[in-house]
Amino acid sequence: MDQLVAESTRALALSAKPAPPCTLVIFGANGDLTKRLLMPSLYNLAGTKLLDARFSVIGVDRDPGSDADFQGRQTASMRSFTPDKGGEFAEASLDGSAWGWLSQRLHYMVGDFTQNQVFDDLARRLGDENVIFYLAVPDRFFGGIIERLHEAGLTEKRNGRFRRVVIEKPFGHDIASARALNKQILSLLDEDQIYRIDHFLGKETVQNIMALRFSNGIFEPLWTRDHIDYVEITAAETVGVEKRGKFYEVTGALRDMVPNHMFQLLAMVTMEPPNSFAADAVRAEKAKAIDALHMMSAREVMQNVVRGQYAAGQVLGENVAGYRNEPDVAPDSNVETYVALRLFLDNWRWAGVPFYLRTGKRLMKRKTEVAIHFKPAPIRMFRDVGMERLGANAMILHVQPEEGISIYFSAKHPGQVMDIDPVRMDFKYADFFDLKPSTGYETLLYDVLTGDQTLFNRADNIENGWCAVDPILREWASHPGIVHPYFAGGQGPNEADSLPERHGHSWRKL
Ligand code: BG6
Repeated sequence: MDQLVAESTRALALSAKPAPPCTLVIFGANGDLTKRLLMPSLYNLAGTKLLDARFSVIGVDRDPGSDADFQGRQTASMRSFTPDKGGEFAEASLDGSAWGWLSQRLHYMVGDFTQNQVFDDLARRLGDENVIFYLAVPDRFFGGIIERLHEAGLTEKRNGRFRRVVIEKPFGHDIASARALNKQILSLLDEDQIYRIDHFLGKETVQNIMALRFSNGIFEPLWTRDHIDYVEITAAETVGVEKRGKFYEVTGALRDMVPNHMFQLLAMVTMEPPNSFAADAVRAEKAKAIDALHMMSAREVMQNVVRGQYAAGQVLGENVAGYRNEPDVAPDSNVETYVALRLFLDNWRWAGVPFYLRTGKRLMKRKTEVAIHFKPAPIRMFRDVGMERLGANAMILHVQPEEGISIYFSAKHPGQVMDIDPVRMDFKYADFFDLKPSTGYETLLYDVLTGDQTLFNRADNIENGWCAVDPILREWASHPGIVHPYFAGGQGPNEADSLPERHGHSWRKL
């Protein structure tokens, strides 16, 4: 069995072909994203020989500097990630040949992307090659950069060359701004040129939800309201808002995590089987799933959504400040750093099944998972065994940091009496596959290079997500209500427990 898996993994690795030649233009080349995620992912792609010999990067930013300065800065930051510091990218040491290959292909261009000059310079410098423009900049610049790229003729597809634009989140702040941005960019680019990133989709375990459901015969027949009691989706973090107070004060946990990352997980779990794995077939089913989310009334928002904000406490043995004492945060801020929701999908497969979603910062543990709780057996045959001991079946999809799947079921306790105990069956990725250090962006960057949009959001995916949270944002704006404090390092506000408990359900402990 292990042998078989190893062979098929090798076969797959061998079948990934090097991407076509391309120049990657990064706006925001001196920013955090470039340093923390883009460079490590390009380095990993270079290490697996998936980049073409003619691949190159042009980093654009305002600070003065030369190619050599840019290469030096990126080399220093890559070195700072080793030995293993436990970040997104963590390796024992930097592979000199992969980094050497990549670093000599890094170029730098000084330019202010709010002005036309740099776009004219780029137009002169870029010939007829394939180009990806990566907007690693704050979202207020997205529309303007795409306008200027268009005006300079840089987005024109001709002579077989491709021109693609990668847009980071946040894509809008509410449904109105997301629609306006989609309208603006779709007047300048075709949908097949736009790659709206949600980095959760780069995570292997998130993609594996589709494989689990649609490449096995045993799970999908159970994947309906007839057999599933409720579903929990958790994205718990131990980090606080770090240096992002300014961004977080106008964003909060709901906007930051729910219409994008959490709904992507929800869509993977609830979508109908697509007709094929072609990008548009998958994206259409995901859009339909999110579109089925029940629109909450103001009353339902009050009953089904709980907000929290971290107070000072201890996380992983360290004392940490409360949210209101973080840099760039108002001392009386009511912005939520935690949100829990009880949601329903109004469709044939899921009607009546509650989906409990929770996400928060400064919690006890970093853990992203989906827990599918199945309905209990129809009759109690084992009358002497307490119901609570029997427990219902559950399947846990561990997304991070553990990567795997667990199934809980009941088994007979060895001995002469019929005693039943809950047991757990575990599959761990690491036991079967050779897991290479990865940021999750490798897959996404490779897909942009090869023109595969399956893991990127189409305009309707984004707008459906914002539509579903719109009643909550509107209710909070008109009736701010209570933001419950919770101690950093705990499970989140106690009030969130009542969301499932009122209905006989409960959150799994972090
Ligand atoms: C980002 C959010 O999109 O996702 C952050 O803006 C959050 O606030 C992060 O910390 C979580 O991603 P991951 O991959 O660390 O779970």
